[in-house]
Amino acid sequence: MYSLIHYSRDNELALIGLHQAPVNALGHALRRELAEACRQAAADPAVKALVLHGQDLPFSAGADIGEFGSDFTWAEPSLPALLEQLESLDKPVVAAIAGVALGGGLELAMACGYRVAEASAQLGLPEILLGLIPGAGGTQRLPRLVGAEQALQLILSGQRLGAGKAHELGLVDRLADNRDDLLERACAFARELLADAAPARPAWPHAEPAAGLDDHYFDAYAARQVSRWHGQVAPQLALAAVQSAGQLPLAAGLALEQELFQQALASAQSAALRHLFFAEREALKIPGVTRDTALRPIGKVAVIGAGTMGGGIAMNFVNAGIPVVLLELKREALDRGLAQIRKNYEISVQRGKLDEVQLQQRMALFCTTLDYADLADADLVIEAVFENLEIKQQVFRTLDEVCKPGAILASNTSTLDVDRIAAVTRRPQDVIGLHFFSPANVMRLLEIVRGAATAPDALATTLQLARKIGKIPVVSGVCFGFIGNRMLEPYAREAHRLVLEGASPAQVDRVLTNLGLAMGVFAMYDLAGIDVGYLVRESRRAAIAHDPSYCKLADALYERGRYGQKSGSGFYRYAGRERLEDGEVIALAEQLAGTLGIQRRVISDQEIHDRCLFMLINEGIQLLDEGIALRSADIDLVWVNGYGFPAWRGGPLYYAEQLGLQRVLSGIRNYRETLGVYGETWLRPAPLLERLVAAGHQRIERC
Ligand code: 3HC
Ligand code: NAI
Repeated sequence: MYSLIHYSRDNELALIGLHQAPVNALGHALRRELAEACRQAAADPAVKALVLHGQDLPFSAGADIGEFGSDFTWAEPSLPALLEQLESLDKPVVAAIAGVALGGGLELAMACGYRVAEASAQLGLPEILLGLIPGAGGTQRLPRLVGAEQALQLILSGQRLGAGKAHELGLVDRLADNRDDLLERACAFARELLADAAPARPAWPHAEPAAGLDDHYFDAYAARQVSRWHGQVAPQLALAAVQSAGQLPLAAGLALEQELFQQALASAQSAALRHLFFAEREALKIPGVTRDTALRPIGKVAVIGAGTMGGGIAMNFVNAGIPVVLLELKREALDRGLAQIRKNYEISVQRGKLDEVQLQQRMALFCTTLDYADLADADLVIEAVFENLEIKQQVFRTLDEVCKPGAILASNTSTLDVDRIAAVTRRPQDVIGLHFFSPANVMRLLEIVRGAATAPDALATTLQLARKIGKIPVVSGVCFGFIGNRMLEPYAREAHRLVLEGASPAQVDRVLTNLGLAMGVFAMYDLAGIDVGYLVRESRRAAIAHDPSYCKLADALYERGRYGQKSGSGFYRYAGRERLEDGEVIALAEQLAGTLGIQRRVISDQEIHDRCLFMLINEGIQLLDEGIALRSADIDLVWVNGYGFPAWRGGPLYYAEQLGLQRVLSGIRNYRETLGVYGETWLRPAPLLERLVAAGHQRIERC
């Protein structure tokens, strides 16, 4: 009778096990069967109470995100209707939560009168991360369970709570030690409720969710978040919904929530964020790597170089409980690197994210060495030494000598050819690029660079490990700068050139931050160091020599010792942490433009947007055509998670699809014609973009 529900009886209890692999997403088919199971239990006089649980699966990851936008979203029973049916039963219902109760999954649990969770369960309302608000009662029932202030914080952050914390807050009534005793514990609770003649639903602990909050609490909250929300729709809708929980009776609040949820669901921002949700999962699917690909065990990691990147990289593994050996050239460098790591952990302790015992446990997982022999038992070695091919090749020759067979040998290079590094070893199949982003212990992006010879199991192992350490891995082929930095080049080049043509660095940055980018190009270069950018250009002088204007202003700043924030001036002047426009930079740009014969003019914000963004998009499309990126969504993930592109715009290529590919192409062609030699040199439409437009495609894919 049921295919997604295991229905059974245990004396006076009906046990309803949800079984929609892998995560019990509440799609239409499961909702229909659950509604039927509830009806069956309600109608059976022998059943006195119900226990809802995930049958050999997590409790529920919420509404089926893949259904959004299709007719199934609201097909009856809709999720809100199902939960109202559940809530109206006159028999107690206990939710037994194992694994996760997220979004609609937690809303399902809250529609039950009682909740038991196993100790490692995670609960939360992450809808906001999808540009949504909880739409099946979350904004109304959570405030009634934990109070409006706490509910607002949980709903706006999308943060997951551990079961213990959920219990403390009153979101969960009982805790089970582990998954194995969860169902038993939930059944015992249900029997207790029956023995006590407890009501089907207990009274709400916070029947007046906003009691005690100032009249202006919600307005003041919204005012504080204006710049952080930056025009995003969902946070404002979520706030309005939670506020209404304090003003309206439940039924009216639920009706309002529905309206607001529909608005969020229809928004372009939510569509963009849902695109990224699926992109993250899709990025793990790699040609040549299957579920059956055997993984190499990784019990110990070695990191070579304890500088800016090495230390952060090492912390990732230690945070996941994997011991790390750090190797350096000199003892002082090791001491410095380790001291920095300790300092980072101490900051986490000060912020309450870690306790002193955890700090000691993590530090105990590090060991240091100057001797390559100590790397013999490492399963993965990550090199993070200076960005110099000869030095890296020398390191890999040594690794080839000392490492055990099967060890994965990785380089954190940001630009160099992984194949040329692999070529100096007798085991190129074990060599791979692992391009972490700075700060490596914080940034979630990890570009995994697949060399020509990289073995599928080495790739599969690093993909899985990346997930284990909380990264978002994206596979890239080998080319200068891989996906992210290669796209940065034309984007930043246009920004630099625009300043010679008449824009100011602040104007360019403003256009980009108005679009939602975390930082403009010039603020970013000032932060990264103008000297660093200069050194990268030095290694490419031959390739850029044909354009005398190329990053000329940045070179001139370098020559004047204006290295950016660290030297107090760069494209901007700095007064402490405050960034100020600098007339000297404009004067320098004018002078350079004169020398180069560039006619300065008023530059419109639109031109800045189009030239920077279209060239970024164009390069992404070219990377796709070359096969460096496997899919356009991978490129979106790289720019959202590594370069501050606003997630709610879905990434640069998704954004291009929304703008229209025709518009991007005609924009590039237009500037190619109007910008003279410069336009002809650099503004070349990617052949794939031309083919897509000619074929009338709206989506960016290989054709
Ligand atoms: N809907 C549809 N598919 C989902 C899903 C959901 N809510 N949650 C997970 N999946 C799918 C994934 O796409 C993936 O599919 P694939 O194997 O075909 O790629 C599969 O389930 C496994 O997911 P993960 O790879 O992410 O597995 P993990 O074990 O790493 O993580 C998880 C599991 C923590 C549940 C994570 O998937 C997750 O965070 N899911 C989303 C939770 C969420 O955002 N829920 C809110 C949904 S919106 C909602 O409920 C609206 C309501 O208020 C009306
Ligand atoms: P860094 O200069 O801070 O650290 C490099 C460390 O390597 C130094 O401590 C040095 O003593 C050590 N080292 C040099 N040669 C060595 C050798 N032969 N054996 C052992 N140790 C050696 O440099 P950073 O910034 O950490 O960069 C390291 C690598 O990471 C480079 O390839 C760089 O391109 C890459 N990278 C850097 C990013 C950044 O933002 N800094 C971002 C992504 C990648």
